[in-house]
Amino acid sequence: MTEMTKSALSGKHVVLGVTGGIAAYKAVEIASRLRKAGAEVRVIMTRASQNFVTALTFREISGHAVITSMWTPVTEAKVEHIALADWADLVLVAPATANLIAKTAVGIADDMLTTTLLAVRVPVMIAPAMNTDMYENPVTQANIETLRQRGVIVIEPASGWLACNRMGKGRLPEPSSIVAEAEKLFSCQQSLAGRKILVTAGGTEEPLDPVRFLGNRSSGRMGYAIAAAAARRGADVTLVAGPVTLPDPVDVNVIHVRTAVEMHDAVLSRYDMSDAVIKAAAVADYRPEAVATDKIKKQDGDLVLRLVRNPDILLELGQKKTHQVLVGFAAETRDVEAYARTKLVKKNLDFIVANDVSRSDAGFGVSTNQAVLFFADGRREAYPLQEKSALAEVIVGHVSNLLKQGGDKHQF
Ligand code: CTP
Repeated sequence: MTEMTKSALSGKHVVLGVTGGIAAYKAVEIASRLRKAGAEVRVIMTRASQNFVTALTFREISGHAVITSMWTPVTEAKVEHIALADWADLVLVAPATANLIAKTAVGIADDMLTTTLLAVRVPVMIAPAMNTDMYENPVTQANIETLRQRGVIVIEPASGWLACNRMGKGRLPEPSSIVAEAEKLFSCQQSLAGRKILVTAGGTEEPLDPVRFLGNRSSGRMGYAIAAAAARRGADVTLVAGPVTLPDPVDVNVIHVRTAVEMHDAVLSRYDMSDAVIKAAAVADYRPEAVATDKIKKQDGDLVLRLVRNPDILLELGQKKTHQVLVGFAAETRDVEAYARTKLVKKNLDFIVANDVSRSDAGFGVSTNQAVLFFADGRREAYPLQEKSALAEVIVGHVSNLLKQGGDKHQF
C-alpha cells in the first residue's frame, strides 16, 4: 500500500465485538479487511457467537488471542476490560444482536463485551443484524435510539433475504461497507479540532401564564445529532437547547433555555467567538404580549391573545456576520425550495437545510429526515430519507469543508 492510498485505519486499534447471530461468520471478513487496511484488531466474542464461528478462526485472522470470557485473561493486564477499553481507538460490534443492544442501552455488564462497552471512552460503532420483527420491535428501536443519543454510531442494517427465509430489514451490511464506515470515522476525525461550533436545537416555549405556553413540535433530535457529530470531529461545541427530553450529548457544553428571547441572548453573547453557527432550533416568531402572574381563569365568551414579534435570531446573526459559517434550517409545508432560497439570501447564510415537514417521516418528532441543501454559491444537494444522525454527519461535513475553505465566497 503506497503512502498515497494509506487507509485512515492504518495503525488504529480496533476492538471487534462479535455477538451471537447468524451473521457472525461475516465478522471474519470484517476482521480480515480491518487488518488489510492496517488496523490492529482484538476480537471479543460473546458466548452465543461461539455457536456460529470459532475463536480459533478469529485468532488466525486477527493474529491475537481472542477474548471469550471475563475469567480467562489473555493479556498481562490485570483488569482486562479496562486495558482493552484504554487500548482501543474504536469499538466495533458487528453483528450486534437485539440482546447486546438492549444490555448496552441499560448499562448491563455481564460479559467481556458489555463490560468493555461500559468502560470505553472512544467511539463505538454497532451494526445491528437480526430478524426483521425483532429489529422493528419498538423496544429494539427505542434501545437503538438511546444508544444513538449517547453518541454510538449505528450502521443501518440492509434489506434483503434474511436467514429466517423472508425479505426484510435486518441484514448485516457487506463487510466492505462496514469497514468503509469505520474508515470514514477516522478520516473525518478531528477535522473540526480547535473550532468553536454553536448549535441550537429544539423548540421554544412562550409562556402565557405560570402553567401554559405556546410551543411547537420540535423534538430537538436534529440539533442534538449535529452537536454530537461536531463533537466527534473534535470541535468545541456549545448547544443552546430549548425544552427537550433528550439526554445531553457527550463532550458538549449544553445551555438550556426556554424562550426565544433567552435563546437570542445565549446565542448572541457567544457569536463573536464562534467559528460556525448551526441554527436547527424551531424558534417561535411570536410571544404573548404579557405573561399573566396567575393562572388565567376562563371567562364567558372567547379569549383573544395579543402576540408580539420575537427577534429573528438568525437574521441578526446574518447581519452581524464577520467570519462565521452560518447554517439555517427551513421547515416548510409547501414551496420548500422557493422559501428556502429566500431565507438563504435574506439571512445571509452559507447554506440552508430545507425539509418538507408535511411528510410524516421527515422533520418534527421523528428520527428520520429528508433534506435538500441550498448553498450560497448556488449549489443544490438533495439527500434521501435518512436517520437524523446520518444527515447530521452530512451537515457537519459541509461546515468543516467551508471552514477549511475560509468561509463562504458569497457568489449569489
Ligand atoms: N429562526 C431564528 N429566529 C426566529 C425564527 C427562525 O433564528 N425567530 C431561524 C431558525 O432557527 C431556522 C431559520 O431561522 O434556522 C428558519 O426558520 P423558519 O421557522 O423556517 O423560518 P422563519 O424565518 O421563521 O420564516 P417563516 O415564519 O416565514 O417561515
